[in-house]
Amino acid sequence: MKIALASDHAGFELKELVKKHLAEKGIEVLDLGTDSKESVDYPVYGHKCGEAVADGICDRGIVCCGTGIGISMAANKVKGARCALCTDVNMAVMTRKHNDANMLAMGARTTDSVTALEMVDAWLETEFEGGRHQRRVDILNEM
Ligand code: RB5
Repeated sequence: MKIALASDHAGFELKELVKKHLAEKGIEVLDLGTDSKESVDYPVYGHKCGEAVADGICDRGIVCCGTGIGISMAANKVKGARCALCTDVNMAVMTRKHNDANMLAMGARTTDSVTALEMVDAWLETEFEGGRHQRRVDILNEM
């Protein structure tokens, strides 16, 4: 599995932490920036990550900004991206089971780093349940 990562300046440190965590697990990543804490615009990075997933360059994407809100909005502008902003492990699990979320958004200013990495692990390990949820995901994908 190959994971695209992106953040704005506020999410930069969390993105770096996630990158290190994934590397330790032997998971390949594509880092789409940003590369420092210098101020940048989150829509650019969210959209870029959404495209990497929707185009099949990466299997999944993880995006971080201050709250995770703006960057998830940007990712979800890309057709084929299903980006879920999660704040706890249960949300990360449920969005895989029910929404087949192919992108995870997290807020560096709203979520502590231990919880963030627990969410990443849970989100990566949880399978989509399919069944009645597939029909709903199909509707989303048609929009
Ligand atoms: C940047 O200050 C902040 O607005 C951004 O990281 C994010 O929280 C937006 O949703």
